[in-house]
Amino acid sequence: MHRIRFKTSGKNDILCSAEPNKTLLAAAQEAGVVINAPCGGKGTCGKCLVRIESELKNGSFKACETSVDCEITVYLDHSNLKNTLLEDAGIITTKNLSEYAKFAMAFDIGTTTIVGYLIDMRMGEIFYTTSILNPQISFGADVITRLNYAKENGGDKLTELLRSAINSMIEEAVAHTLININQIQLVCVVGNTCMHHFFHGISTDSLCQAPFSATITEALVNRAVDCGIRIRPEGIVKALPNIGSFVGADTVSALLACELHETRDNFLLIDIGTNGELVMGSKGRMLACSAAAGPAFEGAKIDCGMRGEKGAIDHAVWEDGRLKVSVIGDGKPVGICGSGVVDVIACLTKEGIIDETGLITVPEVFDGKKVYIIVSGQESGIGAPIYLSQQDVREVQLAKGAIAAAIIMMSNELALEISHIETVYLAGAFGNYMDAENACRIGMILPALKDKIINIGNAAGEGARRAAIDPNEYARAIALAKKVEFIELANNIAFQNCFCEQMGFEQE
Ligand code: FES
Repeated sequence: MHRIRFKTSGKNDILCSAEPNKTLLAAAQEAGVVINAPCGGKGTCGKCLVRIESELKNGSFKACETSVDCEITVYLDHSNLKNTLLEDAGIITTKNLSEYAKFAMAFDIGTTTIVGYLIDMRMGEIFYTTSILNPQISFGADVITRLNYAKENGGDKLTELLRSAINSMIEEAVAHTLININQIQLVCVVGNTCMHHFFHGISTDSLCQAPFSATITEALVNRAVDCGIRIRPEGIVKALPNIGSFVGADTVSALLACELHETRDNFLLIDIGTNGELVMGSKGRMLACSAAAGPAFEGAKIDCGMRGEKGAIDHAVWEDGRLKVSVIGDGKPVGICGSGVVDVIACLTKEGIIDETGLITVPEVFDGKKVYIIVSGQESGIGAPIYLSQQDVREVQLAKGAIAAAIIMMSNELALEISHIETVYLAGAFGNYMDAENACRIGMILPALKDKIINIGNAAGEGARRAAIDPNEYARAIALAKKVEFIELANNIAFQNCFCEQMGFEQE
């Protein structure tokens, strides 16, 4: 066995040991240390770089291709542990804390980020908000990679990671607010179907193959101790129901938060995360579907992609014949996140640098690839250009084509003209930061909807908050999930044709 010392941005190092020749990624996964591994360790994404010091090797190496063959020290990037775009939600309010107050915690378990809220059950006020990266990121950026891992190896490890992440967030909330953990009466969790199943230790095998059905769609109430969640001993864990297939409790929760089940207006709800979930309709009839948006907008599968963290290009405009970019944290850019990718592609299509088929018409060659250089090596914080490759554009075409086609398919099914949709609600962190006009410019959201878009932030979290403190809201969520009709698009020929049509870009 060889000893590994993981150096993190926290106070304490994490120590573990690994059998000879085990990969560093596998050793980290076993020890519960989070290393960003979007491709799940296939060696194709190049995003699992870590700095290593040892007798035999020093420098940056891919964790998934590095075998542990002596004692080593591994330096983990701070960005492995926190998500800056959501950090500003991390507010602590200590006003009116009563020693006898009862609290609940609500969690929105996203594929990339977990957000938790400590709520006063009497007033419904949020006392503390925290977010962390979903530690399952070490097993792949997208749910499919994680589902495949669970199919081959069982899902216990993925369940354990979620539960321990939630316990650590509870401990953090307790430590910061100085309440007693026994004051926390219940935990309410929402998440997409995969996260729901992983959290509860339910088999995800049926989500791996057609017809991609959920094992369980019903709401669940369990004793916290049975879910391995540490709150007061008699505490309970409530989970909102799933709608079907990949459309999960987080979508139910977002609908609940916006009270969309009560509206007579025609609406479209879009939650674009690592996967895309959409609901269209009105009080009379609502349809839901999922679109394989893929993790392109979370920075995975994009050569210079990264999450929305310090150093990420988050926005871009075309000025004086060139791209001008803004960077999170205002330093030199080190990569580009989803909202930046949308802006860059919108600018380049407008300027004709990307044509209607998605081809970069004036490519430069960098590292043997056809690319458009966004920031030169001198201006970037990594000593090399930050660019958009031809393959990156293709990834975005796949993602945006799927979302646009899903919108069209649902409107066809409802016999609802796109122009009759009154409001488009954009949920999720990415939706919040994305420039809606540019999302329409690249055709991810149909241009006819451009003036109807409003951002609603983390609506799933708000729904979980409501369901946590109010049994009536929880009952409403259950009724809502039964009412929304799920439509499966994956094997639908009309969807496939529409998807192909929607992959191109419109030229002005
Ligand atoms: S290249 Fe190592 S996880 Fe993707």
